[in-house]
Amino acid sequence: MPGLIPSRFIDDLLSRVDILDVVEPRVKLRKTGKNYSGLCPFHQEKSPSFTVQPEKQFYYCFGCGAGGNALGFLMNFENLDFVDAVEMLAKSIGLDVPREDSGHGKQADNRYAALLKLLEDISNFYQLQLRQHPQRQRAVDYLKKRGLSGEIARDFGIGYAPAGWDNVLKAFGSDKEKQKLLMEAGMLIENPDNQRNPLYDRFRDRIMYPIRDSRGRVIGFGGRVLGDDKPKYLNSPETPVFRKGEELYGLYEARKKVRNPDRFLVVEGYMDVIALAQNGIHYSVATLGTATSASHLRVLYKLVPEVVFCFDGDNAGREAAWRAVQQILPLMEDGRSARFLFLPEGQDPDTQVRSIGAAAFEASLGKATRLADFFFDTLCARTDLTSLEGKAQLSKMAQPFLEKLPKGIYRQLMFDQLGQLTGVRVGSPNQNSSQPAPPAPPAYAPPRQSFGRPPARNSRPRVEWSPCMRMVNLLIRKPDIIAEVAIPDELGEIRDPDMDLLLKVIELAKAWPSSNTGELMSRIYATSYGSQLTELFGKEHITPTEGMLEEFKDILQRLLEQYHTLKARRSMLESLRQRHTEDDPGASGQPPDA
Ligand code: UTP
Ligand code: MN
Repeated sequence: MPGLIPSRFIDDLLSRVDILDVVEPRVKLRKTGKNYSGLCPFHQEKSPSFTVQPEKQFYYCFGCGAGGNALGFLMNFENLDFVDAVEMLAKSIGLDVPREDSGHGKQADNRYAALLKLLEDISNFYQLQLRQHPQRQRAVDYLKKRGLSGEIARDFGIGYAPAGWDNVLKAFGSDKEKQKLLMEAGMLIENPDNQRNPLYDRFRDRIMYPIRDSRGRVIGFGGRVLGDDKPKYLNSPETPVFRKGEELYGLYEARKKVRNPDRFLVVEGYMDVIALAQNGIHYSVATLGTATSASHLRVLYKLVPEVVFCFDGDNAGREAAWRAVQQILPLMEDGRSARFLFLPEGQDPDTQVRSIGAAAFEASLGKATRLADFFFDTLCARTDLTSLEGKAQLSKMAQPFLEKLPKGIYRQLMFDQLGQLTGVRVGSPNQNSSQPAPPAPPAYAPPRQSFGRPPARNSRPRVEWSPCMRMVNLLIRKPDIIAEVAIPDELGEIRDPDMDLLLKVIELAKAWPSSNTGELMSRIYATSYGSQLTELFGKEHITPTEGMLEEFKDILQRLLEQYHTLKARRSMLESLRQRHTEDDPGASGQPPDA
């Protein structure tokens, strides 16, 4: 049997796909405010009650109650089981699905959750130090000197790692196990030569920038010195939760501020992102000391049609831009645009926006060099177009790059441009695409009769939900319930067909306290309880959002009361039986009510 799919992978998958990309080719949608609506594919209807909420990455039908994330949608719509839906979704963005044997997978997931929790706690600790530490003033002064407001510092979760070798070690590493986790999180450095104190804090006397993933979870830190010491920045090393080549600093903060930006600006530094935000430009992100990668770009182009890359105007900057071009070309579908902003020497976006102001800076973005111009200018500069040889050389140099462009008008125009420059039309550009386009899914699928589930499941009589299932339902729809309700251990002693599922959902909701519905669902889907979840969404009745917490508490209380009554009755019977056996030793072993 193939192993379970690690829930980290499903997490990752869901953070990379957009539910709109999944639903839109299958259901005709209309934009209504920030959501989309259409005719529900899961029941027959004449007016649209099916909605897609990109912000929550969730769909929901007010008519039939069907709802879920991108995976749930695929399962329902395509009649797939969970694993097949994961495969299909992963394939759509070119990922392979990893497998783990279940014991190991579960352990790894717990570890992953523990790391994220620790990093979140440490981030809060650093922020607290910025407000309370006796030496905080130097850090505050530094931030003020750089023109940052308290509001921006808060938005970006900026903190302060005080001077000293063991602030984090002391606060978070009280035992060996915790120290191990701190090491794994990249927060400690080990010096085996020092026998007495081999471990010490990585970040000392630095301004701390938490690096968050696109969902706002702290996955690492960048730490800047307050003065001119070297190295200027220290960054978390790669850890199980931090992959530098894939993360974009500031993306979470940007998306929180502007729902639908028209473009993103890619800059180099933490401080650039922060200074731009301070000046009202909330759509910039920074790569983390690495070159722009294809996965960075895929993330950005999923969100906006235009990406502007900011580079130094010097040679190094132009070389970096040329490297970015290689990554961009394969993604240049029609409608997308890439520009390059080359800054005057000695300037970075931070200093530039302060010197010319936000309005002028934004205006310069609109005038930034287009990809096509940068591409041909760069290549033409390397050849002599007045000679035949030069033209042939240009043609030869440019073609392999242009071959990377996906099919479409843009590709055609680029080949045309090459033809104009060389005087020779090159081939039929759209025929030898290196990326054969997948067959297009139908634009609109007619509403289905059934709920889109295999008949076997469909023909099952719809039974009433067990109390546990009702609690599961509430918890999934409103995961923050878990923070409000104390769950007694004895809950696990209660017999209910869905108790195991409930306990699992409680465990996951507790382990990942700020999950939303989609995230919690994806984690459940990653366990063997996934199929039960699908059942749940098929049976959903509309649950009003108000009163969910109360309902959850109410069911819990009644369950426990019933259990207590049962227990009391049992122990009464037990004592009766004991008295009975004392009276009559021959009757031992027979339950009184058997
Ligand atoms: P910069 O030196 O341009 O960063 O380096 P910055 O954000 O503009 O810094 P200041 O605060 O205004 O001086 C760009 C990026 O390169 C990485 C960091 O990610 C930084 O934001 N870097 C730079 C390091 O990782 N280590 C270093 O020592 C320097
Ligand atoms: Mn700078």
